Amino acid sequence: MSASATGAAAEAAGASGTGAARQGIDFAVIGGTGLYKLAELEGVETHTPETPYGRPSAPLRVGGFGPHRIAFLARHGEGHALPPHRINYRANLWALKAVGATRVVAVNSVGGITAAWGPRAIGVPDQLIDYTHGRVPSLWDGEGEALHVDFGEPYTPALRRALLAAAEAAGVPVVDGGCYGATPGPRLETKAEIERLRRDGCDLVGMTGMPEAALARELGLDYACLAIVANWAAGRAPVAETITMEEVLANMAAATEPLPALLRALKF
Ligand code: HPA
Repeated sequence: MSASATGAAAEAAGASGTGAARQGIDFAVIGGTGLYKLAELEGVETHTPETPYGRPSAPLRVGGFGPHRIAFLARHGEGHALPPHRINYRANLWALKAVGATRVVAVNSVGGITAAWGPRAIGVPDQLIDYTHGRVPSLWDGEGEALHVDFGEPYTPALRRALLAAAEAAGVPVVDGGCYGATPGPRLETKAEIERLRRDGCDLVGMTGMPEAALARELGLDYACLAIVANWAAGRAPVAETITMEEVLANMAAATEPLPALLRALKF
């Protein structure tokens, strides 16, 4: 079966004729709920590549970030107008590749299921289970070469290791490993659904991890997830509670504070 090189991947790479690509991009960041821009980005250039799949969620902001040159994309749009099931994951990944990114750090807000994943924890999962449905799961639309990428390790081990090392260097405590359950959203899960995810081996739950990770693999991009815990998943809080958007946003604001230091400390 085919590896990651596809017509689309090659086309995206071929579209990398921008200034951003010429100067090289060390990594891309896809910001999730609560992370719509990186204030520290310097000398920002804005890119809005056309893609065969339509428009990405937002303009790509390319600029200096500490020792790095990075591309930033707000997954939900810069005004958080796009819910998880309306995100054009294919256009987003394709556009990042087109501006020259080869590595993607995906920041995802999640609910915590197991003990290590309490609110405000940051972690780097190493596995996932896909429960989403109704999303376009592939760049392959049935034409051209068959595309069945290896996905046994859904997150690129070397990029995971780089994130863990950066966290240590920056003094940011992170959870190493865990299984991400990707749910369709936009509603939160029932307690029974979370109980099932727990039985399946999931440690955290989020709505945007798939098909993003698989599309990155199809495009040959290194991809790893930095999961930020916004709340206990349904039924998992030590004291019964209703999950509110205020709680989610307050926890995300607090937990994303150390992210710039962690990302600046990345070394490849
Ligand atoms: N479930 C799914 N996605 C989420 C959650 C949750 O509890 N919290 C933040 N994103």
